[in-house]
Amino acid sequence: MVRDQAHAPYSSFAVGAALLDTEGRVHVGCNVENASYGLSVCAERHAVAAAVSAGAQNIEGLAVVTDTSPPTFPCGACRQVLIEFGDFPVILANLEDDRILTSVAELLPDAFTPESLVKGKE
Ligand code: THU
Repeated sequence: MVRDQAHAPYSSFAVGAALLDTEGRVHVGCNVENASYGLSVCAERHAVAAAVSAGAQNIEGLAVVTDTSPPTFPCGACRQVLIEFGDFPVILANLEDDRILTSVAELLPDAFTPESLVKGKE
């Protein structure tokens, strides 16, 4: 699975993410860390980049896998990147078959979204 490809020599915290698009295609990503720590990129954002690069029109759902108990929730930056593509179900899972079902809107209430930009005064 994509989590096995994670480049996480600094944290040893491997994350895998899979996005399902409305055409039924799956786009995956893993976290890729960097010796310049701040340049590390999360699995979720790599999955988004893969989906957009493959021409995905809409996102149906996201699964995130970590080897933690309970499963880990996405970081704040990833929540903001995800809500750019709307609200969809998010499954957080671990290697012990624990599952948490949530959604992007639940993860980021009162979000700043593309709609926020058009609500400004002229
Ligand atoms: N990480 C993710 O890939 N997704 C998250 O939502 C949280 C954190 C990664 C970033 C870094 O490589 C490692 O986990 C530890 O923070």
